[in-house]
Amino acid sequence: MNIRCAKPCDLMNMQHCNLLCLPENYQMKYYFYHGLSWPQLSYVAEDESGSIVGYVLAKMEEDSDDDPHGHITSLAVKRSHRRLGLAQKLMDQSSRAMIECFNAKYVSLHVRKSNRAALHLYANTLRFQINEIEPKYYADGEDAYAMKRDLVDFAKMHSLKPAEPNTFWDSHKTSSNKTKDNKDE
Ligand code: ACO
Repeated sequence: MNIRCAKPCDLMNMQHCNLLCLPENYQMKYYFYHGLSWPQLSYVAEDESGSIVGYVLAKMEEDSDDDPHGHITSLAVKRSHRRLGLAQKLMDQSSRAMIECFNAKYVSLHVRKSNRAALHLYANTLRFQINEIEPKYYADGEDAYAMKRDLVDFAKMHSLKPAEPNTFWDSHKTSSNKTKDNKDE
């Protein structure tokens, strides 16, 4: 199994994998928006024959008020290739690129409250924290957990070199650790 950065020619296969695995689906132009705007951040897992068996689709948030931060739009691994550590690797590669290319201090995502496998991956394996609950976030009315992962800690742990070291290492703790209730502290 191989993990590599996604190329424009992978985007259709990523969409196919998404359709097999998740009810949240996107038009092809949304994949291109990610792939063309932040080509460093999305990754695929391919099997021995080069077929795509998993992907992470990621972007930077363009919210100038906050520290630079990334966002995971979608993550999925085909049923036949689960529990092999692929999702963990895809997420770590994308987090690393967010730090090294864009100085991201944290990465955020949304996940269904009922998605036990993904919640386990995010909270226990990748050390995301629940930031808030977004009621009725999904089209079918289910609530989402909004979660964040501190990338300054991740960078320290893996001796990564951020894009702009001076501002990256400054003023830790980052906003990834602020909850909705203490946002202004
Ligand atoms: N139950 C409990 N814990 C799990 C499960 C599970 N079914 N799957 C993964 N984990 C946890 C475990 O701690 C696991 O470590 P372990 O195998 O050593 O116990 C750890 O996560 C790492 O698992 P990976 O093998 O890296 O995860 P995998 O490649 O199987 O992919 C994923 C996990 C992406 C959630 C997969 O089950 C999937 O594609 N599900 C359907 C799509 C989905 O829910 N995507 C996330 C939606 S949220 C979003 O896209 C932002």
